[in-house]
Amino acid sequence: MTQLLYIETFGCQMNERDSEIMAQLLGEHSYIQTSLPDQADVVVVNTCSIRGKAAHKAYSCFGRYKKLKEKGHDFILAVTGCVAQQDGEALLERMPYIDIVMGPQSIYTLPSLVAAARRDKKPLVATDLSADFVIPPFLPNLAEGAPHKRFITIMQGCDNFCTYCVVPYTRGREISRSFGDILTEATHLVSQGVKEITLIGQNVNSYGKKGDAARNKTFPELLRAVAAIEGLQRLRFTTSHPKDLSEELMRCFAEIPSLCPHFHLPFQSGSNSILTRMNRKYTIESYLDKVARLREYRPDIALTTDIIVGFPGETEDDFDATMQVVETVRYHGAYSFKYSDRPNAKAADFPDKVAEEIKTERLARLQTRQEEIALALKQLEIGKSVEIMVEGASKAPANQWSGRTGTNQIVNFSCERKLMPGDLLMVEIDSACQNSLRGKMI
Ligand code: SAH
Ligand code: SF4
Ligand code: F3S
Repeated sequence: MTQLLYIETFGCQMNERDSEIMAQLLGEHSYIQTSLPDQADVVVVNTCSIRGKAAHKAYSCFGRYKKLKEKGHDFILAVTGCVAQQDGEALLERMPYIDIVMGPQSIYTLPSLVAAARRDKKPLVATDLSADFVIPPFLPNLAEGAPHKRFITIMQGCDNFCTYCVVPYTRGREISRSFGDILTEATHLVSQGVKEITLIGQNVNSYGKKGDAARNKTFPELLRAVAAIEGLQRLRFTTSHPKDLSEELMRCFAEIPSLCPHFHLPFQSGSNSILTRMNRKYTIESYLDKVARLREYRPDIALTTDIIVGFPGETEDDFDATMQVVETVRYHGAYSFKYSDRPNAKAADFPDKVAEEIKTERLARLQTRQEEIALALKQLEIGKSVEIMVEGASKAPANQWSGRTGTNQIVNFSCERKLMPGDLLMVEIDSACQNSLRGKMI
């Protein structure tokens, strides 16, 4: 009998991909997805714990499901992802109406856990994190048609232990997936019509360092092997740690035509003393040197980054150093966040916490300046002809389409004929606004 599944996903691409995997696994047991939680037989909340706010969002949504249960809806509530891993058993104590608490390494067991929770009518916790975990071979089911772009998870976990970060505790040790399994998945996707692949992991450029299945392979080798799949138009990856950015990886940008000219390279802070206390293992000089060399290999490369403001002990001078990096590098985009204490992360115990008002003020200053720079970079595109990959039609008005450049900028344009997501075409840029470019088809 067909049953209904509702999934709510928070957090990063790893969680998005995990949600797809869970949907497919339950799909093999006759579940189909619904957009209406109050009709679902199983609700999965895939949570994120990266900052206090993210965890808070998850907690407030559990309350909604509690209300649904109180109204008499009978469904299994499974909490997965990083809050589940972090809080484990304690979640059940606070929220006894949850049926399953499951960490990221356990997603493949979801169907059997759902069956057991139904049968035994008691809550289950699956939060083992093993350093010997092997990411199982898994082929996406594209029976309902292949989308034009897909993520492939190439590693799990993280061993870097940046002092502000919860990920090493929620995703466990860094484990690379088998080279062969990744290539099998990529080849399968492309054969089904996928045009763009993004390789994802918390620290993709250390691929091959941990996990037997990938030993003796490097990230550049993986990139070259995936790029060689006939029919793949665009290849991307995210996220990278600056300390693991090798010359060999930079060379890939000059030598692999399908590798998109976009690099997301978080720097977090422009101050060396803060970087040391963050345990980032690079200096800002070495970071800037790598940026300069990347641009030698690929002058048109667009850079984006992550920045934390108000890390414990951050002075006005430290913050100015961060602003200076933003001025020097000129990022196409930046995700910037106020520092937030996280459970287990070392910095939670650091003294000299920065006051909330100061964090708010610094973040606003940073974001204002970063937006000006991003807009100025967009304006430089005006008059240029660029290749875009069609994303889809805009909802309104008619004949409006949107696509992305290799540098990952959104371009809106009009076209009378029907286009397909994944089509590549040339557009001349004629205007720029904060979040997108506008162009006409050539
Ligand atoms: N593995 C990736 C990204 C991890 S999380 C990397 O290392 O680049 C995404 C971003 O969230 C981080 O780059 C950092 O900028 C931010 N972040 C992580 N923990 C945080 C915290 N405790 N407070 C504020 N921002 C945080
Ligand atoms: Fe967190 Fe640092 Fe690992 Fe990124 S590299 S996931 S910021 S510990
Ligand atoms: Fe969030 Fe976990 Fe991803 S904390 S950012 S969902 S790895």
